[in-house]
Amino acid sequence: MTRGRFIVFEGIDGCGKSTQARRFAEERGGRFAFEPGDTELGAQLRAWLLDAHFAMTPRVESLLMLADRSHHVSTVIEPTLDQGVDVLADRFFASTLAYQGYGRGVPLDDLRAATDLAIGECRPDLIVLLDVDVSVARARGALRDDDRFESVPGDFLERVRAGYLEMARTDPHQWEVIDGVGSEEEIAERIRAVLRARF
Ligand code: TYD
Repeated sequence: MTRGRFIVFEGIDGCGKSTQARRFAEERGGRFAFEPGDTELGAQLRAWLLDAHFAMTPRVESLLMLADRSHHVSTVIEPTLDQGVDVLADRFFASTLAYQGYGRGVPLDDLRAATDLAIGECRPDLIVLLDVDVSVARARGALRDDDRFESVPGDFLERVRAGYLEMARTDPHQWEVIDGVGSEEEIAERIRAVLRARF
C-alpha cells in the first residue's frame, strides 16, 4: 500500500495554520492531527504545558513537547500513514525548534538531537509555513493573555517567526513559505497550488 503523505502546517499563533490544516485534512480525506495534545496522554501533557501556574524551564517545556510528539508519532501519525491515509498536522518538530530554540534560547543542536530520539525517522513530506507579521497575528485576536505561551511579551514571537523563516530558507526542499495574509479561501488556493506542484 502507498504510504500517506505527511504534511505539516507551521507558523506563529494566529497565522491561520489550524484552519488550513483542518480544511486540507477534509479535502484530502486525511487525518487532522495537532500538537500538543492529540492523544489521551498528550491532552494531559498539554494541560501541564499551557498552565501558567507551573513555572517551567524552557528545557522542561521542550522535553514535555517531545514526549507528546514521540507518543503522537508512534500511536497516531505512523499508523495512519502506514494505512495509506494522509496526515495533515497542525505543528510538528519545527514548533519546538522555533519556540523553545529560537524563541527561548534552548540550544538548537540539543533540540535536534532530542528530536531524533523522540521521532526517529518520521519526517514530513512537506512543511507549509504560513507566514504573517506578529502584528497581523495579534490583530486577529489569537494571542490571549491566559496562556503561558501566548502571553509572553513583544519580541518573543518575532524571534519565533524569524526562526521559522531561517529554517525554511536553509531547507527549501522540505519547506514552503506561504504568505498568510488574505482570505481563508485565497490562502487555501495558494496551498493547493503548492501541493499540486509538489505531489
Ligand atoms: P497550539 O495548540 O498550536 O495553539 P492554539 O491553542 O492557539 O491552537 O499551540 C499551543 C502553544 O504551544 C502555542 O503557543 C505554541 C506552543 N508550542 C511550543 O512552544 N512548542 C511546541 O513544540 C509546540 C508543539 C507548541
